[in-house]
Amino acid sequence: MNFMNSSEEIKSRLDIVDVIREYIQLKASGSNFQALCPFHREKTQSFMVSAEKQIWHCFGCNRGGDVISFVMEIEGVSFIEALRMLAPKAGVTLRRQNSQVTSQRNRLLDIMETATNFYYQKLQESSEAEPARKYLKQRGLTEDTISNWQLGYSPNSWDDIINILKQKSYTDREIFQAGLSVKKEGIERYYNRFRGRIMFPINDFNGNVVAFSARVRPDKQETEKLGKYINSPQTMIYNKSLILFGLFKAKMNIKSNDYSIITEGQMDVITAHQHGFKNVVASSGTALTEDQLQRLKRYTKNIYLAFDMDSAGQIAADKGIQEAIKEDLNVRVVILPEGNDPDELIKNNPEEFKQAIAKAKHIMEYYFETKLKDLDISTINGKKEAAARLLPLIAKIKNKIEKNEWIRKLAEELNTDEMLLRESLPQDRQVSSDQSSQDREAHQTEDVWSRRSREEMLSEMLLSLLVKFPAFLEYVIAHLSIDEIFGSENKSFYKKLILYYNSNNIKDVQNELDYNELKRSITSNTISSAENNNQYSQLKLLDKLVILGDKEFYNLTSDQVKKEIINTLKILKVTFIHYRKKEVEKMIAESEKENDSEKVEELMKELKALSDEELLEY
Ligand code: UTP
Ligand code: MN
Repeated sequence: MNFMNSSEEIKSRLDIVDVIREYIQLKASGSNFQALCPFHREKTQSFMVSAEKQIWHCFGCNRGGDVISFVMEIEGVSFIEALRMLAPKAGVTLRRQNSQVTSQRNRLLDIMETATNFYYQKLQESSEAEPARKYLKQRGLTEDTISNWQLGYSPNSWDDIINILKQKSYTDREIFQAGLSVKKEGIERYYNRFRGRIMFPINDFNGNVVAFSARVRPDKQETEKLGKYINSPQTMIYNKSLILFGLFKAKMNIKSNDYSIITEGQMDVITAHQHGFKNVVASSGTALTEDQLQRLKRYTKNIYLAFDMDSAGQIAADKGIQEAIKEDLNVRVVILPEGNDPDELIKNNPEEFKQAIAKAKHIMEYYFETKLKDLDISTINGKKEAAARLLPLIAKIKNKIEKNEWIRKLAEELNTDEMLLRESLPQDRQVSSDQSSQDREAHQTEDVWSRRSREEMLSEMLLSLLVKFPAFLEYVIAHLSIDEIFGSENKSFYKKLILYYNSNNIKDVQNELDYNELKRSITSNTISSAENNNQYSQLKLLDKLVILGDKEFYNLTSDQVKKEIINTLKILKVTFIHYRKKEVEKMIAESEKENDSEKVEELMKELKALSDEELLEY
């Protein structure tokens, strides 16, 4: 089975409504479902899903497609990755092959899966793993948790996992590329990267294991020269700055609770989940990156940082927080009792952890407290220093109203002039340019809509009526020329409809057009790549028209449809005549200037015909 067939099979076995519901709330509306579009900011629901056609379209941002394209958009993944995510839901097994890169990636994923199972078995069974088992138990992890997170143990061997993988016909090079081995200087010898450690598999967003974080054995903690944790290197399947530990398991909970708690360590995450805090993820000890936050933003805009603020974590936290402010996230800081990390607090006193979350401080409030703590703000130098510390942070806030609010608060606190602070606000170029490009984008989508003329909208309405009620095709084709349809996309679509009508002899069809037939007729006869592009936008238009039809006309009677069609047709004709007359008048004036009497005469005839037609009744 190739990927094209798999995609059809997956689509046929899934209900788009179920899949989309996992991400956003859908409301039934007529024969469709609607929602706030997850792909652009809006207040009214212009995102529509057709259960019958298994397609979606947003009338706000003009995105649309099928279930696969929805997953591609919302998860930010490629076509193949979207298939991988949907296949298990559809009960379809994907054969891993296709293009070379995909198969290379897939081989690395297979290697990681094998290694995960191997390490897991070792933790369960080997006698060498006894201290590790004891340790995890002592840290409060249950058997279920260990199996849920597939925690493992890598024996103290130079080559066990390498040999197992080689027996399964993976090459040294592939094992190295997966990050499981390291190469000895100079010679072509590879040995195990992870030896004698507790293994924490790291999943990507589809749940594939793409890396490991390996903790030193408790009995070796003092003597180990390498770090407490050693981690997989960046590989073809592991992008460190994108992945958040635990997000794969946490994402739906984050979505439904509309907030996420970010911790530093994987032990924090695992313990939290075991105790029912299922929206916890970890940055794995580094500063949060823009990519990580962008990813998280798909599920919520509210983040709670439960970082260790007193240690080296401070710097990482600070950098992460500033990144989060730039991303326009609502950041709160969870203040943990002295000397506690989330892991210990949750284990010893989950109630207190809950309270700490409830009492979490808005990030600016937190900064006001911590950054002003050691200053005497009644002195001039104290005020200057306070402004120097806080203004750069305030400058990063994207939302202007919020920014204003904090400037006001700072002025109040320092008992100084608000305008003065405003003037000293550092111009964060990064932020301001981000802002303006975002504004521009927002305006652009608006413009696209306002620029679309009324005639174009009407043409679209007419086309969608025709798609939904093809019984009227004959009448419309007989009375409306392609010129009289407005908008180039609409024109080519109308052309396709005419072709379809002529070739399919559907005169007696009373019901809807065969969606798949129509699709096929749009995609047939592609020659150039320009046409390919065109074909793509035509398919998109088809989906849009189908949903538009369902949305606007789902309960019309045949008589109402007829009236609607005739009415629209009239307006389009009159509008066309109006424009054409203007055009012809201009051409007449030009021809008169050039003394081209023959041309003038010809144009006058057209003008007369147009005026006559204007008076006709349809
Ligand atoms: P911590 O030292 O706080 O780890 O580092 P932890 O999760 O509390 O570990 P336990 O409780 O001692 O088992 C936080 C995170 O930073 C990364 C790891 O991802 C860890 O979970 N880290 C830490 C490293 O990558 N390397 C290190 O040497 C230490
Ligand atoms: Mn810890």
